[in-house]
Amino acid sequence: MHELDFNGGADNARATGTFSDQWKSKLDRWMTNPSLYRFAISNPITRWFAQRRTQKIFDLMAGFVHSQVLLSCTRLKLFSILRQSPMGMDELALKCNIEPAAFQRLIFAAVALKLLEFRSGQRIGLGPLGVPLATHDGILAMVEHNHLLYQDLLDPVAFLNNAWDGSMAAYWPYAHASGQDITRRAADDKVTRYSALMAASQNFVIQEILSAYDFSEHRSILDVGTGLGRFISELALKEQHLKLQLFDLPPVLNLAKETLAQKSLTSRAQFHPGSFVDDALPTGSDLITLVRVAHDHPDSVVRQLLQKAHDALPPGGVLLIAEPMASEPGDEALGDAYFHYYLLAMGAGRLRTPTELSLLLAQAGFRHIELVPNAMPIHARLLIGRKTQCLPLFESK
Ligand SMILES: C[S@@+](CC[C@H](N)C(=O)[O-])C[C@H]1O[C@@H](n2cnc3c(N)ncnc32)[C@H](O)[C@@H]1O
Repeated sequence: MHELDFNGGADNARATGTFSDQWKSKLDRWMTNPSLYRFAISNPITRWFAQRRTQKIFDLMAGFVHSQVLLSCTRLKLFSILRQSPMGMDELALKCNIEPAAFQRLIFAAVALKLLEFRSGQRIGLGPLGVPLATHDGILAMVEHNHLLYQDLLDPVAFLNNAWDGSMAAYWPYAHASGQDITRRAADDKVTRYSALMAASQNFVIQEILSAYDFSEHRSILDVGTGLGRFISELALKEQHLKLQLFDLPPVLNLAKETLAQKSLTSRAQFHPGSFVDDALPTGSDLITLVRVAHDHPDSVVRQLLQKAHDALPPGGVLLIAEPMASEPGDEALGDAYFHYYLLAMGAGRLRTPTELSLLLAQAGFRHIELVPNAMPIHARLLIGRKTQCLPLFESK
C-alpha cells in the first residue's frame, strides 16, 4: 500500500467566503464570454491585459520546449564554452558537432529565452539568464536531473496514478522503504548519486541558512539527514566554536565522513549512523537542523522525526527546518507547481506551508515557532521552534 498524505484542509484554507465565490462566478461567466476577447483586443488598455494573459498561457504551453532548449545548451556545454569568450555560430556548431542549420534554431531559441545573446561580429555570448548557469554547477546538475522527472511525466495523467513507480522514485531509495529496508535499499550506488546531486544543488540553500540565521547562541549542532555533510562543514568553518554531530543512513554517513575529513573537521565531529524511522536521535546538541529532509516524508514520519528531535534537545534547544515551502493562501506561489510534482514523483513526501509545518512542530511540543526571514525563499524557507524551558505545568499556552 502506498502512503501519500491527503491534505483535506487545503481547499478550505483557500476558500474566501460566499460573497467572494458569487463575485468570482460572475467574473467567470463574464471572462469566458467569447465576445470579451474581441472587445479586449480592440481597446488599448484592455489589450495590454489580454496580451499579458495570452503570453502567460503561451509560456505554459511552451514550457516543455523551453526546458529542452535549456537542457540542450547544458548538454552541449554552451554555458561553460561561452563563459570563456563569445564565439561565432559556425565555430560553435562545429565544436558541438551539430548540423549548422539546426544548431542555428537552438541558438535563436536560446537567445529568445535570454539564455544566450548576440554580440558584435556575429558572435554569440552568454545572455542574462545564461550567466548564473555558467557560474553555478548546481543549477546545471538540477537541469540534467529534471530530465528524469520529465520522463516520468510523459503521460501526465497516468503519472497521477503511478507517480511512485517511475524513475524519480527509483532515484530516491529511502523515500518509500521502511525499517531495515531503508538502510538496505540505500546501500548501493544510488546513495552516492543522490548525495552528490544534493551536494551540488545545496550551495544556494547553505547560503540562505548561513546568511539568515544567527548560530552564535549555540554550542553544538546535530544535522539530521546530513547527506554529504556539506552544510554542516560550511557552517563549522564559519562558526569555529560549534561542536558537530551528523546523523544519516549508514552508507550516506560514510560519504559525509569523507567530506569532513577533507576539510579537517573530523576532530570536532561525532558521526551517528541510523534511521530516524527506527532509531532515537542522539542527544548533546542544543540545535538540530533538518535541511531538505521533512518534505521528503509523509506526515506520519515527520511527526515521529519532530518528536524525536524534541526528545533529543535540551530545554531551550532549537530545531531549524530549512527547505522549500508551499506558499500560504494569497501569497505569490514561487516554486509550488514544480516542487509539488517533484515530491509526488519521489513518491512519499509533500510540500508543506509554513503553517502546516508549524502545526506539526507544535504537536511535537515545540514553542516560539517562527519563520526566519531570508533573501531567496525559492531556494528554501527557514522555520524554527524552541523546546520550552518551562515545566509543562507552567507552560504558557
Ligand atoms: C534530500 S536529502 C538532503 C541532504 C542534505 N541535508 C541537503 O540538503 O543536501 C535527504 C537526506 O535525508 C536522509 N534520510 C532519508 N531518510 C532517512 C532516514 N530514515 N534516516 C536518516 N536519514 C535519512 C537521506 O539519506 C538524505 O541524505
